[in-house]
Amino acid sequence: MNKTYRIINPGYDNQAKQFIRAQGNFLFDQNDQPFIDLVMGAGSLILGHSDKVVVEKIKQQSEKSSLFLQNNPSVQALSNKVAQLIPCELINQIYCNTGSEATQRAVRLARAATGKTHIASFQGGWHGMNEWTLLDDGGRFGQSTVRADNGIPKVALEYSLLLPYNDDAVWQIIDKNAKQLAAIIIEPLQGSNPQPDIYPFLSKLTEYCQNLGILVIFDEIITGFRVDPGGAASLMNLKPDIVTYGKVLGGGLPLGLVAFTEQVFAKTFADKNKQILTGGTFSANPISATAGLATLEQLTPQTYAKIKGLTSFFLNELNQAFQNNNINFHADGSGSINRIYFTDQKIKNRQQRDGFEISAEKQTKFRALMVQQGVLWPTNGIVCMPASQK
Ligand SMILES: Cc1ncc(COP(=O)(O)O)c(C=O)c1O
Repeated sequence: MNKTYRIINPGYDNQAKQFIRAQGNFLFDQNDQPFIDLVMGAGSLILGHSDKVVVEKIKQQSEKSSLFLQNNPSVQALSNKVAQLIPCELINQIYCNTGSEATQRAVRLARAATGKTHIASFQGGWHGMNEWTLLDDGGRFGQSTVRADNGIPKVALEYSLLLPYNDDAVWQIIDKNAKQLAAIIIEPLQGSNPQPDIYPFLSKLTEYCQNLGILVIFDEIITGFRVDPGGAASLMNLKPDIVTYGKVLGGGLPLGLVAFTEQVFAKTFADKNKQILTGGTFSANPISATAGLATLEQLTPQTYAKIKGLTSFFLNELNQAFQNNNINFHADGSGSINRIYFTDQKIKNRQQRDGFEISAEKQTKFRALMVQQGVLWPTNGIVCMPASQK
């Protein structure tokens, strides 16, 4: 007999189809009908679905063990690989299970290191389900700022600050709040507006904050191992104090990582007067680590070249089609992180995007029409290209 039940996951409810298997660039429904997948595990599946090597390694590891509750050889091997890729100052690594956990750990670490309370994030940014950065929804799920704050105590929001993105109004706000601000967290490239012209702003922000004793957290959960083998900090030669990773790092399985400098370590775990909680049942998961390592090991210069080639093809075809059909949209982004801007205006930040783009309803209709054409378009609009070409 069927029991009544309800799965509550509004983010997934809007999906147009149910898929039962996936391979490479394709998802397949119950009738084995293929759909091109532009969601790619929200950017996690950089090699495409069910990569043969990753699948084989997962099988082998699951036969050995799925859980040790110890730092095990798989985690050690992944850490060693990660240390070779990310900026060399970030020698301390804390594992957890998701991006949201990583940003939450990073925030705790920043508060413990500085003894300060407040955390600032940027309009249009997204750092997962972490209470401290939910002053807006990251511009991913519709237009205009949404305070997704029910269930979050007011006091948590009072310790959070929302900053204007890529905007010189920010410096005065930082000055005013410097005494309370433990850290500023920022996506080096925002999924809601992945534009490479952010470098001067990021560079100034890092220096400005560090001069005021505010820690800088780069949230590289999308950009890590994607925009460059060492992520955006490495690509731009910037020196954040703390960096969070996820998505690609887990090779399609749940995994999060917080990496941080010796200076932060000295003020936290090395300080005998401080006790900071981290860890958890699955915080050195050998299967996730194995999938992650099998993925990172395949990210060779040739792999990045394939991703670049597919990205250029995707953008050129779209922009050509818009032009040929007199449609005022453009497709653009940075590296393999792209989106359609449903406007022909150049966008500086998410507020401008909301102002210029066609309505959220029309964008939803666009996604529904794409499904009819056999293409699954991400609800948050972020298209992360994979290396897979089939
Ligand atoms: C930049 C960024 N940070 C954090 C997160 C949260 O990661 P997770 O969904 O694994 O909790 C995401 C997820 O989309 C993200 O894009």
